[in-house]
Amino acid sequence: MKSLVVERPGVLTLAERPLAEPGPGEVRIRVERAGICGSDVHIFHGRNPFARYPRVIGHEFFGRVDKAGEGAGLPVGTRVVVDPVISCGHCYPCSIGRPNVCTSLQVIGVHRDGGFSEFACVPAGNAYPVPDTVSDDQAALVEPFAVAANMTDHTGVRAADIALVYGAGPIGLMVVQVLKWVYGVSRLVVTDRIDARLEAARANGADQAINTANQPLAPILAAAGLSPTLVIDTACHPSILAEAIEIASPAARIGIMGFDAEPSLVSQQKVTSKELSIHSSRLNGRKFPKVIDWFASGRLQPERLITHRFAIADFAAAFDAFENRPAECCKVQFSF
Ligand code: NAI
Ligand code: MN
Ligand code: ZN
Repeated sequence: MKSLVVERPGVLTLAERPLAEPGPGEVRIRVERAGICGSDVHIFHGRNPFARYPRVIGHEFFGRVDKAGEGAGLPVGTRVVVDPVISCGHCYPCSIGRPNVCTSLQVIGVHRDGGFSEFACVPAGNAYPVPDTVSDDQAALVEPFAVAANMTDHTGVRAADIALVYGAGPIGLMVVQVLKWVYGVSRLVVTDRIDARLEAARANGADQAINTANQPLAPILAAAGLSPTLVIDTACHPSILAEAIEIASPAARIGIMGFDAEPSLVSQQKVTSKELSIHSSRLNGRKFPKVIDWFASGRLQPERLITHRFAIADFAAAFDAFENRPAECCKVQFSF
């Protein structure tokens, strides 16, 4: 089988590997669609501290069950999308329904081989059947939308919220779709530094999109009389949290999801005086059924986030577009 392997940091090759065999409780999937995520690029460049090499990357993938291992109860041919989060089931976070921060967390495509491959073996419990009302293209977008759902479940969303989303990259646009088209927030403001991405934010549900490359955000919000009650930071620069705390309404919720090691400088006084809630979100804790229901209901438009499609053989061009052309690029999908 052909697999896209990061042999070592900086070296990405389409390798011929022996066909993987499903172990007990596993299914083998013939992969049909897979999306590139920023973390794939980080593993490629050696910037993911969890990755071990060589590694088949890819954790946003869809396909059909091709072979079931012993005790794996999924019929051959079932259309499935894979939750990359593998958890132990009995540690403290697992025991309270937070498997995404399991103390022995394994992420498919990071800690073990992933979905940029003609075939991938995964635990059957990680393979979620997809109804026929959800297309192949959409199905491969369930994982990043589950990242958005994990965040919005942590912060909670009310229809009356005045929401502010930092960043209109793939994750930001998914959060925007969910806030507007699932929860119908009353006002949705998005910031970015790239005009084309702000245009995409408007097309995906934002009421207002502000380029903050050359102007500070606070006076613009103040002039519009907007005091955000929900702030979600998908831009993840360490400086953003302090600004979010500054501009948030009293009793607001703030969601963060960055992995920058650089400290964010915030004052407890500013947080406590407004009794702000700060939530972090990592990966997803069993949000696949929720997102599949959202997709099946037709409320979201995940496919409009796909800007580029490539055959896996053209992986170099795909990574080049994803890394170097953010103005025109959102989701890049491989087909097999
Ligand atoms: P991306 O890099 O494509 O998007 C970030 C966007 O923020 C870009 O459009 C950029 O122009 C914009 N931006 C940068 N600085 C800004 C600022 N100061 N104000 C407003 N906008 C600004 O990344 P993607 O794929 O959308 O992911 C977003 C972030 O979420 C990344 O930092 C990624 O590491 C993180 N992430 C976290 C996950 C989690 O589970 N916690 C899962 C997936 C991504
Ligand atoms: Mn991802
Ligand atoms: Zn666990």
